[in-house]
Amino acid sequence: MIAEEELRRRVGRLSLEQKVRLLTGEDFWALHAEPEAGLRRVVLSDGPAGVRGGSWDERDTSANVPSGTALAATWDPGRVEAIGVLLAREARRKGVDVLLAPTVNLHRTPYAGRCFECFSEDPLLTARLGAAYVRGLQHSGVGATVKHFVGNDSETQRMTVEVRIDERTLRELYLAPFEVIVREEGAWAVMAAYNGVNGSPMTQSPLLRDILHGEWGYDGLVMSDWTAARSTEGTVGADLDLAMPGPASRYGPWGDALVEAVRKGKVDEALIDDKVVRILRLAARVGALEGEPAAPALPGAGPDSVAVATRLRAAAAAGFVLARNDGILPLSRSGPSGLPAPPRPVQVAVIGPNAEVARTLGGGSATVFPPYTVSPLDGLRAAGLHVAHAPGVSALQRAPQARAPWLLRPDRSGPGAEVCFFADSGELTGWELRDGATFMWLGGFAPAEAAEPVARLEIRCVIRATAAGTYRLGVSGLGRHRLVVDGTEVFDVTLSPQENADIAEAMMAPPQQLAPVELAAGQSVTAVFEHDVHSSPFGGFATLVQLSLDPPHGTDDEEIAAAASLAAASDVAVVVVGTSAEVESEGFDRTSLALPGRQDELVRRVIAANPRTVVVVNSGAPVLLPWAGDAAAVLLSWFGGQEFGNALAEVLLGDVEPGGRLPMTWPASEEGLPSTRPADGVLDYREGLFIGYRAFDRDGREPLFPFGHGTGYTTWSYDSMTVADGPVRASGGVAVCVQVRNTGPRRGREVVQVYASRPGSAVERPAKWLAGFVPVDADPGETVTVGILIPERAFQHWTEQGWSTEPGPFVLAAGPSSASLPLTARVDLS
Ligand code: BGC
Repeated sequence: MIAEEELRRRVGRLSLEQKVRLLTGEDFWALHAEPEAGLRRVVLSDGPAGVRGGSWDERDTSANVPSGTALAATWDPGRVEAIGVLLAREARRKGVDVLLAPTVNLHRTPYAGRCFECFSEDPLLTARLGAAYVRGLQHSGVGATVKHFVGNDSETQRMTVEVRIDERTLRELYLAPFEVIVREEGAWAVMAAYNGVNGSPMTQSPLLRDILHGEWGYDGLVMSDWTAARSTEGTVGADLDLAMPGPASRYGPWGDALVEAVRKGKVDEALIDDKVVRILRLAARVGALEGEPAAPALPGAGPDSVAVATRLRAAAAAGFVLARNDGILPLSRSGPSGLPAPPRPVQVAVIGPNAEVARTLGGGSATVFPPYTVSPLDGLRAAGLHVAHAPGVSALQRAPQARAPWLLRPDRSGPGAEVCFFADSGELTGWELRDGATFMWLGGFAPAEAAEPVARLEIRCVIRATAAGTYRLGVSGLGRHRLVVDGTEVFDVTLSPQENADIAEAMMAPPQQLAPVELAAGQSVTAVFEHDVHSSPFGGFATLVQLSLDPPHGTDDEEIAAAASLAAASDVAVVVVGTSAEVESEGFDRTSLALPGRQDELVRRVIAANPRTVVVVNSGAPVLLPWAGDAAAVLLSWFGGQEFGNALAEVLLGDVEPGGRLPMTWPASEEGLPSTRPADGVLDYREGLFIGYRAFDRDGREPLFPFGHGTGYTTWSYDSMTVADGPVRASGGVAVCVQVRNTGPRRGREVVQVYASRPGSAVERPAKWLAGFVPVDADPGETVTVGILIPERAFQHWTEQGWSTEPGPFVLAAGPSSASLPLTARVDLS
């Protein structure tokens, strides 16, 4: 690693202005270059479900890996590390040096809008998987940004909320994943969150200096979340190194104001030097500093290659949690054959709003543009099954984004639209041919505004009717929008965000304006959408225009009836239910855990029509499943990445084991869950240590599915557990051996989980807490003995004097889930 003196020597070559310039981004996604320090431009990118790169654009595609909860459900650090390596290759391919991931905030409550992006409600599971993700990236020379430090566990008022967390809870839960990752992997960057904790905004919090740097010895860079740095002197003294985004002339509190503060003696220049050192150190690590080794070459296959697809499919399947199975799964490829009739292909009714257009990732900054996505319907069809489809109900309150086969470019060369950029003078300054219907620009319209700023957009397309009826056509966005169809103005409106909407909320679920357009079968019309850029409250910073189109369809009653009769006429029904970007996304929290629309009713009607019904849940976090006990099988599939549908087909057909275990407690109702709503700007974590299974245990509440739960296609026995003689203090923990046997008919995968507890403790504690785990694979009849190292920290609690181990015996219990722990052993650490 580059020596501190060398970094300081380079800093010494720079003027105050040059140094301060480096402390705010050059633009939305990059740091300034500084040739005098040998520094090239360093590029950052979201994160975590893929590497988006500099543009928010479907033409620049990225491998879409399963979301945080899907990866967490694998309980497999090795697999998550391999995903980190895949992402590093993607980063190199796209010229990205630092990924804005992983997100290691905790699932304090399932209402939190960004749960899908975080791993788990448990700090140990989050820490182990977060460390693996970081290892995969950084061992490949790409920086990780562990985010959001700290207390950003929900979205409501996230920019300003003051989170109150008692010190013990902060240490034992919310800081714990950051601590493990920083200490073990030396994360190269950490992102300071928008919110405040215990009195200070995180970009100016003493936790940065005292704990992150002081206690944990962190030598990496701290960057602000986007626009989170707000005070010139407050942030500069608090070990924040980089204010994002830039340039400083438009965003952030530093730039000239900071130069002046130093000149006036209000800020010590040594603080600026320290920050520049940390920026140069990051650059050296990612190979962006002259004279230091370049980043290792990482030849990688493209996002649409077979190699990437194979890995993503396996990762998705490894995270699918088979929560319930009465034996219907795996499905047989042939239908029932009354002898002497020969077997015939099984007839599968594929039903539900997420069957045809699945969610493969969550909304917000985690959005990437995959080269393709495989829906459940595509996947089951491609597997050669005899498939019929009925959407059942719509889960959306608003019209979906326009898509093929109705949306065409003006020259009809394919789905999409043509975008024209105009300057104030009315001059056409740029032109793009696009494949999609969502157009988002962050921080500007380069290259269209190279000469003059963009003032107006015109988006042109053709809408072609496949059937006669009413097509509701319109736009989602902010500011002034005009729609002209075949030369006639249909509307000219100004759309405003909901009051107090976060920018992410305003961009992810913007207001919508629709107008009915009557079309005959086969008829085409030309639509022109105009948008005045300056009319948007976020104009220039972020611009969004989404073309919306609701083609003719039956009412929910009609669609439910059609779905039920299709199910009745089929051998088996697969119903794919889930959330939508309207309810589960960055920028806002959920207000209900129920599936949106009439999906529960749809599931009940399909089960009544055909008891051989498998329900696949396509959500990033728990939703209520009031019919779960009546379904023949329930598979929780998360946001599974671009290969989602293929992975689903392989798992449903039994070609691959559903390998996942729940990384969170799946509640049966909304009773007793922590709220995300601040009172007077303050969100009090008054539940303390008791989140997730810790709360269910304390309250004696039964979840629908417990933390750690999940079954596969074989069975296991837990045969024995031994604790190595005496504590293995030298290695910092206790070694446990657990023997399990595959007692079923086929090879399978099990996650051996070990929980600690402390009967009769003198301090308040959860009834049990996860202390270690390891995934195992075994053939039928095979016995496997796994070693699990329980870290010393698993036995410690935080006191005013620091970490402490209560003398006396702890109990360790091993089993397949938090609710089934057949083996126990005692450990005496005193
Ligand atoms: C999010 C971050 C993200 C950043 C840049 C913020 O709104 O909270 O997670 O990395 O935007 O897109």
